[in-house]
Amino acid sequence: MFFRQVLYRDLGCASYVLGDHGEAVVVDPRWDIDVYLELAADEGLTIVQVLDTHDHADHVSGRLRLAAATGARARRADPTGEDPDGIAAGEEIAVGDLRILAVASPGHRPEHLAFAVCDLARGHEPWMLLTGDSLLVGDIARPDLAYEATEGAQALHATLRQLTGVGDQVEVWPAHVGGSLCGGDNLSGKTNSTVGFERRHNPLLLLGETEFVGELTESLPSRPPNIEQIVALNRRREADPLPALDALDPDALRPLLAAGVTVLDARAPEEFDRGHLRNAINLPVASPGVGTRAGWALSPDEQIVVVAAEPRGAQRMISALQAVGFWHLAGFALADLEAARQRAVQRLEVLQADYAAARTRAEAAASQRLVELKAEIEKTRRELHDTLLRLVEAAENLGLSAAVPA
Ligand SMILES: [Fe+2]
Repeated sequence: MFFRQVLYRDLGCASYVLGDHGEAVVVDPRWDIDVYLELAADEGLTIVQVLDTHDHADHVSGRLRLAAATGARARRADPTGEDPDGIAAGEEIAVGDLRILAVASPGHRPEHLAFAVCDLARGHEPWMLLTGDSLLVGDIARPDLAYEATEGAQALHATLRQLTGVGDQVEVWPAHVGGSLCGGDNLSGKTNSTVGFERRHNPLLLLGETEFVGELTESLPSRPPNIEQIVALNRRREADPLPALDALDPDALRPLLAAGVTVLDARAPEEFDRGHLRNAINLPVASPGVGTRAGWALSPDEQIVVVAAEPRGAQRMISALQAVGFWHLAGFALADLEAARQRAVQRLEVLQADYAAARTRAEAAASQRLVELKAEIEKTRRELHDTLLRLVEAAENLGLSAAVPA
């Protein structure tokens, strides 16, 4: 058999590729699906089914994209039987000698499934348990994202009792590892375990139901603001074709900025400090948990332009944003400080030329006005002089003496 754990470090997600006899099943694929396509090509596997253990709340599944890219059947956990592509507890998927049995495991979410995996070429008992978001390495998934927390914790307690009954030797491969929103602080940096080790050393599995529920619900972290949006995206049956995003040139960027688009600058802080667009938010693409942080800082409804130093960084940020449900992306702009400086110099030169021309026009107008004023003064002076002459003449006619001033 072929088995590979594929991690998405940014969100602490784990996914799995299981194959045999040239066919493969992918479980809980991340948004960026290139890794599965490359893996399948390298191993000579055809991906025939893509499964989600549950409707994820922290990242958009790559299930529909991967199915669209490979022709595989996309299947989400659906205990209601309403979804024709749903998978319900008790169903067994066969791929070569592999048998993948869906096991009901509510508590994190009602529809949650774990997958017990047998390799008939080795034996007829389960070898691995893909636990999704139920039993994690060193921790237990949070119970409050789809349930009232106590109700979820009680359901998880029953689920864990059932799952750990599968046998101590069975390997545990969870959907989340350290850094995930779906688990707590005790998540180990190790990305797999065994049922027996967890049964003996996972502190929550050592507790009775009352203590378990109390402990699991005691200090739950805040609910991320965009989980409903992500769950809704993960419940779809058809993949929305997302447009390819191009680099925006300054002429295309200007109206977006004027309309108040959110600018997310993905460069390192020191590059950002050297120069950035007004009101830009700096979220370096290289920093850990960038998708999670974007989820806290931005609304999925706002239109976003990504600014990056080079196209690869922009595409990485776009993928990280799309993976947490930010689909209103207007494109990306490359931060070219030298080009921006040259544009600023050119603009300054235009302004200086405009100023000089305006000054010349004002001086010419002032000179012209001065000439006109002098002429008006001279005319007025002459009119006054003529009036005085007439006064003097009138005075002399009356026998009075008068002199005309110069
Ligand atoms: Fe989850």
